[in-house]
Amino acid sequence: MSGLRLFVLTMLFLLLPLTVLAGDPVVGKNIYTRHCMGCHGASGAGMMPGLPNFSRGEQLFKSDNELMDTVRNGNGVMPSFGGLISEEEIRDVVAYLRTFL
Ligand code: HEC
Repeated sequence: MSGLRLFVLTMLFLLLPLTVLAGDPVVGKNIYTRHCMGCHGASGAGMMPGLPNFSRGEQLFKSDNELMDTVRNGNGVMPSFGGLISEEEIRDVVAYLRTFL
């Protein structure tokens, strides 16, 4: 194997965990449409009073971990999705929320 090919393969291998950790907004969009859109709306603006307007960045100043906590455990009227969708799907849907801004 040439040195260059080995180098490229090594770099791909090293980058793989990073892409897994980052969350996939394309997958997240499907999850959002299925589980979240009824309350949070297609544009993220919220369908009723008391919801954060994601298209104005409300609540999105929080870290991924904080947002994932809310999705996992709920918050008042906001239902908990832990057990309903996987940890990876929670990460993906949070990545999708960040695309509203
Ligand atoms: C039954 C309606 C409803 C559904 C379904 C729903 N939410 Fe919410 N969500 C709310 C409400 C209401 C709030 C505001 C909660 C508060 O501040 O008391 C909220 C708040 C949030 C927040 C703000 C986080 C925070 O720390 O305050 C995030 C992020 C969020 N929702 C994401 C989601 C995601 C992702 C889904 C789908 C997996 C989802 N929500 C589904 C009603 C809903």
